[in-house]
Amino acid sequence: MKIFRTVKEMQAFAGEQKKAGKVIGLVPTMGALHEGHLTLMRAAKAKCDVVIASVFVNPTQFGPNEDYDAYPRRFDEDCQKLESVGVDAVFHPEPSEMYPEGYCTYVNVDGDITHKLCGAQRPIHFRGVATVVTKLMNITRADEAFFGQKDAQQVVVVRRFVSDLNLPVHINMVPIVREESGLARSSRNAYLSPEEKQAALVLSRSLRKAKAAYEGGEKDVETLKSIVTKEIQAEPMASIDYVDLFSFPALKPIQTVDQESLLAIAVRIGKTRLIDNVILG
Ligand code: PAJ
Repeated sequence: MKIFRTVKEMQAFAGEQKKAGKVIGLVPTMGALHEGHLTLMRAAKAKCDVVIASVFVNPTQFGPNEDYDAYPRRFDEDCQKLESVGVDAVFHPEPSEMYPEGYCTYVNVDGDITHKLCGAQRPIHFRGVATVVTKLMNITRADEAFFGQKDAQQVVVVRRFVSDLNLPVHINMVPIVREESGLARSSRNAYLSPEEKQAALVLSRSLRKAKAAYEGGEKDVETLKSIVTKEIQAEPMASIDYVDLFSFPALKPIQTVDQESLLAIAVRIGKTRLIDNVILG
């Protein structure tokens, strides 16, 4: 497995693969890799000739009071995992390589889809994501890119700018990978104490309850949201950032679940903010 730390080297490798007619798959990550990330890598391996993973904790998508400095960085361990699933190349630049002195160009997806859910509490987050993902797609010359449903709004935003900017990349969405307990896998789970990890089960439990109600015939959005809210409020260590339900992938407000819809939550367990979601319909 090749490791590239500069844009120039990564571009040279991608250029060679393109010239040889290879289909290039990109899996962008911020590292501290877990089974969720590795599932994306396997999906990319199954579909593409060459798989490039990026490991880059992207400073532009973190707000001033967020966890950029604390975010787990475990590059050596990550490389072992990437090698074990057959990834061909890893792109691991320094922030100064991606955002050199004088950098001032951003991709700003400025619509309804970025102002709600995670975009409401994290105002610059999706601008940072869209900027770095655009750069990564350009640097790696990706034909296919792979993202997790875990960050469903991120998939919606990526699909939007790829379409709006006519980028020649196809976006693949991979289902959420969970621990046996139901907890959605996340690099941020590393912040949780054992008691907090137990409390964090309330996220997936609340969504399962709502899904069961939906499958039992409950289609009213307010009722489904209140099932989730009540379950979370019963957990003393949890505090709700949002519980919301929108059509998917348009993310339009709805009153009744009569089409494919996204029930999404963000919950703080102690100081750790966790997200989870389920697609209904
Ligand atoms: P990161 O949080 O490292 O996630 C990288 C990719 O893995 C994302 O597409 C995310 O949705 C997916 N993922 C994470 N946990 C998952 C799980 N439990 N099941 C399935 N997929 C999962 O998302 C980012 O990084 C960044 O915003 C990035 C796109 C790399 C841009 O910086």
